[in-house]
Amino acid sequence: MKTKLFTILLVFLSFFSKADDGYRLWLKYDPIKEQSIRQEYLGYFKGIDLQTNPTPVLKTALEELGVGLNGLLGITQLPKNTQGLHIKIDPNLALESYGITEKSGQITLVGGSDKGILYAVFGLLRELQQKHSLKNIAKTEIPKISYRMLNHWDNMNGTIERGYAGASLWKWFELPETIDSRYTDYARANASIGINAVAINNVNASARLLTKEYLVKVKVLADIFRKYGIKLFLSVNFASPKLLGKLKTSDPLDPQVQAWWKAKTKEVYEYIPDFGGFLVKANSEGEPGPQEYGRSHADGANMLAGAIEPYQGIVIWRAFVYSPNPKGDRFKEAYNEFKPLDGTFNKNVIVQVKNGPIDFQSREPFHPLFGAMPQTPLSLEFQITQEYLGFTTNVFYQSILYKECLDSDTYAKGKGSTVAKVIDGSLGTNPKLSMMAGVANTGSDRNWTGHLLSQANWYAFGRLAWNHELTSETIAEEWTRMTFQTDASTLQTIQSILLKSRDTYVKFTTPLGLHHIMGHNLHFGPEPWLEKSARPDWTSLYYHRADSIGIGFNRTKTGSQALELYKPEVQNKWNKPKTCDLDYLLWFHHVSWNEKLSTGKTLWEELCHRYYSGVKEVETFQTEWQKCEGKINQTLFEDVKGRLAAQHRESLNWRDACVLYFQTFSKQALPSPLVKPKRSLEEMKELVEIYQLK
Ligand code: GCU
Repeated sequence: MKTKLFTILLVFLSFFSKADDGYRLWLKYDPIKEQSIRQEYLGYFKGIDLQTNPTPVLKTALEELGVGLNGLLGITQLPKNTQGLHIKIDPNLALESYGITEKSGQITLVGGSDKGILYAVFGLLRELQQKHSLKNIAKTEIPKISYRMLNHWDNMNGTIERGYAGASLWKWFELPETIDSRYTDYARANASIGINAVAINNVNASARLLTKEYLVKVKVLADIFRKYGIKLFLSVNFASPKLLGKLKTSDPLDPQVQAWWKAKTKEVYEYIPDFGGFLVKANSEGEPGPQEYGRSHADGANMLAGAIEPYQGIVIWRAFVYSPNPKGDRFKEAYNEFKPLDGTFNKNVIVQVKNGPIDFQSREPFHPLFGAMPQTPLSLEFQITQEYLGFTTNVFYQSILYKECLDSDTYAKGKGSTVAKVIDGSLGTNPKLSMMAGVANTGSDRNWTGHLLSQANWYAFGRLAWNHELTSETIAEEWTRMTFQTDASTLQTIQSILLKSRDTYVKFTTPLGLHHIMGHNLHFGPEPWLEKSARPDWTSLYYHRADSIGIGFNRTKTGSQALELYKPEVQNKWNKPKTCDLDYLLWFHHVSWNEKLSTGKTLWEELCHRYYSGVKEVETFQTEWQKCEGKINQTLFEDVKGRLAAQHRESLNWRDACVLYFQTFSKQALPSPLVKPKRSLEEMKELVEIYQLK
């Protein structure tokens, strides 16, 4: 045991010898300087009493323990010692759950399996990194969601759809011969926050990943991930039987198609015996699917589910569908398509639903499918990557957004039927198939996520998938403490920027419930005047509906009636402009420019004030961040400083573009004391054009 741990520490030295460039994420393990806390900790780690047989995952757990203790406390060896740290497996516990207790100066880690021990180790190290006393600790942790998953939208040519932190982490041309050590670092970061499932490729999937040429490469990743308790999944192209198998059809009810998928699935499992399953985007945004053959989403999903069932694999079928309907409301499309299919899916199918009905906007009401499909397990999909949330130049702490959705009450089974309870199975759906998925924000940038503060989103996603009852404040505090070794007031400054950042971003981009008014290509910049596109529901006019009377999308009884997809209690919250929460107002109502709001201002005045105060708040972030100079690593400081300056420039663009454009409808001056933008609307249009990603 002694020698083993020692060798392992050397292996990991490369990870720690680098300067602080953000690569180490929240796993820094810089030495604890406070003497009293050091002394307390050193007392617990005089040795190790391992009461279980080593498995590959347990070996990983011990390596991680070694790395953490070496970094934090300078411990290089843990001799066998019954007075030391106890580690044991209790088969009565749920597989991934764990406990950490301290009694009479001794710490015990207990896990339901080797995976439980791995999470216990990371849980323990998290306590140490935050310098919490372990005296009398008695922690029991049971993950609330069974599949805690990242969805990578990585293409096989190395680009990432909606990725803003460099290229894909997967180096397909080098694999399988060359194995980048980053694959392991990626896996350990995920394991440290409880992520146990990863779909490695874009949902707009290339069929080629299913060829044997690629499966040998995918296998290498799966072998690495397995050691960290992570299952690998693949996004598949529904037309693969035609594209790869040269069949004439990909009709799910065709016996040849079914046989093709069975054989392909068998082949996948030959390479990856614990393969997780298939993720499918079908009949959505031009992707192939069963409807081409007059079959339903359930027919498609069930055919794949049948092929994968013998191996205990699952099918994740996405509900992100919306047929172009100039008269309709995109808000209702997925509901109308999927609700009637409730109860018709095989038991190893989970339907994946985005948090909101449109598309990962900075604030959306919860998706009406949550609570509406009681017989179908639903996976909740968030977008960690910041497609509509400021790419890589804006700070946007997403825990706030995640929590808002998770805590929304669907009233599906009476008061308290939150989205969190719908997905974790506690309302009665199949709890084994509970899932939260996040579209990854990782890439080849040295610091993984582009914006350093976006690391907090990866972290928060994992922590909330493990326990959706954690608060955004707790998570922000954990992340900040683990990422920055600094004084209490600097930690406070960083946390407070994080906690305000979502609200600020909404203010200067889409206040009062505006949504989807971004650029056609440039999804983080403004283009509220966008009126033509391949589809009406890809324009901005479709969503804001501004005219001489007012602005907003009437989704009430007198409008698209989308609000009626929700339970009456939810409708009551939003169905009257007078009582509707202002943050959701224009999601559901077309409100007159002169309507007096609860703030005492008219709608036009409130809109302008929010755009202007959003920009002011970014300026406050800049002054606040300045306080961190000299208190945190200079490179990290400068990097975020630069990004905040870019955010400021972008916030001005949003403000000026939107205020000037909406003014052409309201025909009112800016309320005092706000000063009219220096640039004209024409100038803003030209500027936005320059920035389009063409
Ligand atoms: C958004 C995004 C696409 C993505 C799609 C999806 O529309 O812009 O790039 O493919 O979501 O979730 O499938």
